[in-house]
Amino acid sequence: MSKMTAFLTNGLLLFFILSNCHNAFAKEGMWIPATLKAHEKDMRSMGLEIPVEQLYNENGTGLNNAVILFGRGCTGEVISPKGLILTNHHCGYGSVQGVSTTDKDYFANGFFAQNMNEEIPIPGLTVTFIRRMENVTDQVLHGIKNTLKDEVRDSIIAIRIAAVERDFKARTHMDAMIKPNFKGNQYWIAIAETYRDIRLVGFPPNGIGTFGGDVENWIWPRHTGDFSMFRIYAGADNKPTDYSAKNQPYRADQYFKINAGGYKEGDFTMVYGFPGTTEEYISSYELKEVYSITDPISIAARTRKLDVWSKHMAWTRDNFLKYTSKRAGVANGWKKWQGEVLGLKLNDVTGKKQQYEKTFQKWADTSGKFPFAGTLLDDMRAATTAADPLITQDQYNKEAVLGIELIQQGPTIEKMAACFRLGLPDSSLDDTLKKVAEGMAWFYKNYDVATDKDVFITLMSLYFTKCADWIPEDVKATYKAHNQDIMAWAEDVYNTSLLTSKDKLTAFAAKAKRGDSTLLLADPAWLIYNAINVARKQKILPQLKSFYSNMRYLDRLYMEAQMGKYSSKIFYPDANLTLRVTYGKIAGLKPDGSSKYSYQTTLGEVVALDDPKSDIFKVPKKLKELYAAKDYGRWGVKGVMPVAFIASNHTSGGNSGSPVLNRKGELIGANFDRAYEGTMSDYYFDPKRCRNISVDIRYILFITEKFGGAKWLIDEMSIVGK
Ligand code: ARG
Ligand code: GLU
Repeated sequence: MSKMTAFLTNGLLLFFILSNCHNAFAKEGMWIPATLKAHEKDMRSMGLEIPVEQLYNENGTGLNNAVILFGRGCTGEVISPKGLILTNHHCGYGSVQGVSTTDKDYFANGFFAQNMNEEIPIPGLTVTFIRRMENVTDQVLHGIKNTLKDEVRDSIIAIRIAAVERDFKARTHMDAMIKPNFKGNQYWIAIAETYRDIRLVGFPPNGIGTFGGDVENWIWPRHTGDFSMFRIYAGADNKPTDYSAKNQPYRADQYFKINAGGYKEGDFTMVYGFPGTTEEYISSYELKEVYSITDPISIAARTRKLDVWSKHMAWTRDNFLKYTSKRAGVANGWKKWQGEVLGLKLNDVTGKKQQYEKTFQKWADTSGKFPFAGTLLDDMRAATTAADPLITQDQYNKEAVLGIELIQQGPTIEKMAACFRLGLPDSSLDDTLKKVAEGMAWFYKNYDVATDKDVFITLMSLYFTKCADWIPEDVKATYKAHNQDIMAWAEDVYNTSLLTSKDKLTAFAAKAKRGDSTLLLADPAWLIYNAINVARKQKILPQLKSFYSNMRYLDRLYMEAQMGKYSSKIFYPDANLTLRVTYGKIAGLKPDGSSKYSYQTTLGEVVALDDPKSDIFKVPKKLKELYAAKDYGRWGVKGVMPVAFIASNHTSGGNSGSPVLNRKGELIGANFDRAYEGTMSDYYFDPKRCRNISVDIRYILFITEKFGGAKWLIDEMSIVGK
């Protein structure tokens, strides 16, 4: 095949090139900061004005030292020399729930500390800095043949990883974590520091921070002030330490300057943060499992669960508070997957992948250098075809049966039963059981039996309709014993199970005698949990485990071959919750293909959406007053208050709260979402449709100063462009 025909028949590459010509401002890729040098020319041509060494360098003076992994799945940034950090409202939501009560309802009223003494410690919350990253592929992979099966390879690699990490920890006195990139073809180490005394500083009420709720979630145009602020505290040596009243605010040598001068369409932007998971290089066979199995099943199960939750949340404030955080989490995936399925379809990503695979196959059949490549796609097809029914079944197990909160608590019964097996005397038996019961307090704080019973009814109906052939015999028998009446069955389960309240568990613990474990193991919720679990362990998980292990092997070799085939292209590794930089430009969008939406929304649009009867579109009174008086302080632009904006940066889940930077590396916003039709960018980036959504830094400053009355925080920051 001539070079020219190879080029022309490669549909995907051609598509990338063409679409990049049309959209010179859209860029696919999430780059490891330590590899940015290779992109500096491109970044500069798009508008970057600082050397990439300012973003990351080996001397510890790069801006990577101002970016944090917030908790376990969000990003945040340091915005003052006193360790003040900015992240999203939805990233701080769970923490705030832990310190909110009906008396101190920070969701309704917001919270802005007026000085450091008022900042609220959040037990369990951590933030992690990545101080340095290094490619350690040679140390991990030297001498290992690429065709060695993953089961064997894994054990060798695990030993080497542990040794290299140990060595780095000893040398740096910090944490060190090695993760695979490019499906295991490369390994990188991250040297990290995790701070664990983190305090809440500022949190707008839901009327601002979740404005538009799930209706506007994943949608552009968007009107949410999705931000919150925390502060890192450190020991006298500025190092991580447990909470103590004596701790000092973390002294930050690197923090982001804030640019309040705004931006315009076409301006260069970067997003610096921790994207979680993407799968850009998988085969059409694996993609099919996403859009025709796992996404649709999760969507169907969650639609039912969310309907029930919403109904019950509307009934009482108590229920609202119990379920608001859980609901946001469940609804978030539910909506994203709908956008993903749509985007994959609109772009015919399967068709494109199939085309790409045809070209790949032709090349592989004749390529001498990659003899293993010729059979990869056939093997993937065979493996996925065999696994599809199991994946279907297990997705129903996870989303339908184990989607019921009561059933999820099965392990508690097992923990209690284990106490009996220890053969303790009755007196200490009580004690041990009581501890297990007490340990469940976190769950019951946010649990409502009536709500969950309705979830049981709707999800069990789904399960019985869709999984008739797979239901474990015991579960079928119980269903029959209730005359196939799910409502009656639910009634029985929720009346009898010990798991419906902490009181029931504690009362059981207080009277428990040797031999009472039979009572536990007759618990109707546990019986369902156990039947599903046993069926999974015997009939599903072992096969799935070997399927995934085989797929990891095939994916790794497929990745290696793709990189070999297009050896002049610079590949970016799939997201894996390590630090990345992505770059693009401020750009509007045509979500439905007809009219074009601007790249920015404003407070005027927020107020126009005000609906006092709606839980999610009700604008707080004070915000309306500020709007009426155009009292925007330094932050408005000719009487207009910007709220959110979009740009063409390639982001993913985990990039929430990420700093959005201008051409000088100054902060212009906090990333918090993507546009609906573009959420398929985790599998396929389409420059026409993919946009990241950010809160404008000026809206954040305005809300903090004028709404929250916390000008003292603004005074800590370094603000330019005004
Ligand atoms: N979609 C955004 C993300 O994936 C925001 C989620 C929080 N907002 C919500 N309405 N649930 O995290
Ligand atoms: N909201 C997402 C998060 O929590 C970021 C949006 C996205 O997935 O792009 O990380």
